[in-house]
Amino acid sequence: MRILAIESSCDESAAAVLDEAGGLLAHELYSQIALHRAYGGVVPELASRDHVRKLLPLVRRALTAAGSGPEDLAGVAYTAGPGLIGALLTGAALARSLAYAWGLPAVGVHHLEGHLLAPLLEPDPPPFPHVALLVSGGHTQLIEVSGIGRYRILGDTRDDAAGEAFDKTAKLLGLPYPGGPELSRLAAAGTAGAFHFPRPMLDRPGLEFSFSGLKTAVLHALRGRDLDIRLKADVARAVQEAIVETLTVKAERALEQTGLQALVVSGGVSANLPLRAALASAAARHGARVYYPRIEFCTDNAAMIAMAGLHRLRAGERQGLAITARAQWPLESLAPVGGEGAPGERPSGSARRM
Ligand code: KG4
Ligand code: ZN
Repeated sequence: MRILAIESSCDESAAAVLDEAGGLLAHELYSQIALHRAYGGVVPELASRDHVRKLLPLVRRALTAAGSGPEDLAGVAYTAGPGLIGALLTGAALARSLAYAWGLPAVGVHHLEGHLLAPLLEPDPPPFPHVALLVSGGHTQLIEVSGIGRYRILGDTRDDAAGEAFDKTAKLLGLPYPGGPELSRLAAAGTAGAFHFPRPMLDRPGLEFSFSGLKTAVLHALRGRDLDIRLKADVARAVQEAIVETLTVKAERALEQTGLQALVVSGGVSANLPLRAALASAAARHGARVYYPRIEFCTDNAAMIAMAGLHRLRAGERQGLAITARAQWPLESLAPVGGEGAPGERPSGSARRM
């Protein structure tokens, strides 16, 4: 089974072709970061308009790179939510229409299921069950994943997501959007111990997160001081340390609580290298292993949507003819796919690497 997938939930337009036997045949991506940078964040209407311009050429390029035509495809998958509703609808309309014109089934994919399944594209995929730490611009969740579509939320954020905390504090430091990678780069030049920011909810039991206090703490630290590069780097370092330690301690707690020994880390913030280093030490203390998507598939992409879509199309899931998308869509409401995620049942994502 070979499918085309389209992603358009936020500020990345992407298309990919995934083959059950041959792995990932093509993935194309266009990032709108430069478009939104002047506004310090994503402008939804601009995002939608740009997806309309970019998606079809990306689909053409992906099909050409995969050496595939519509006749080689068994279905079309697209991100149906959660995300910016206008942006989602551009991808949904294109995917649904192409599938209709080509006489193929279409399936709407949950964006976060895409992030969760992204590590299955790698040569050494995680076993089920596992704990997943999903850290993106919009979400911070610890999830017990017992199979595809079998998700139990163990902990969630009460306010800002980890990526949002990176982005908001980066903005206070005058860094361009998206702030996460910029702040992380700057932090490398910071002095350890120059600042110490709170680790919210760390002293309390449970797996909930709260990151909104961090920007207030940063605001206080900066008050009445000259924003020179040294100060910025020191603050960036302390911010990153606070976020990384909070995520690591809670992830460790989730491994302890569930007794599981595999941790999947996914979503844009999983590209953060100090986070990866801290999680590696924490996992080692528990004899556990950490699994990541390759760096380029940590942030939004269509390859991960193809992986989720392939499983769901193969299980017989079909989208009706209506073009629909959902801004909000609880992960736990997804239907389970197949058995308990036996590894033999998974399509290989790695047979042909891009
Ligand atoms: O998963 P993603 O591409 O989009 C959403 O679905 O939200 O995640 C984007 C988020 C942004 O907040 C961005 O600042 C953050 O991931 N991010 C990082 C890094 N790379 C991306 N945060 C910290 N360090 C990074 N290296
Ligand atoms: Zn995402």
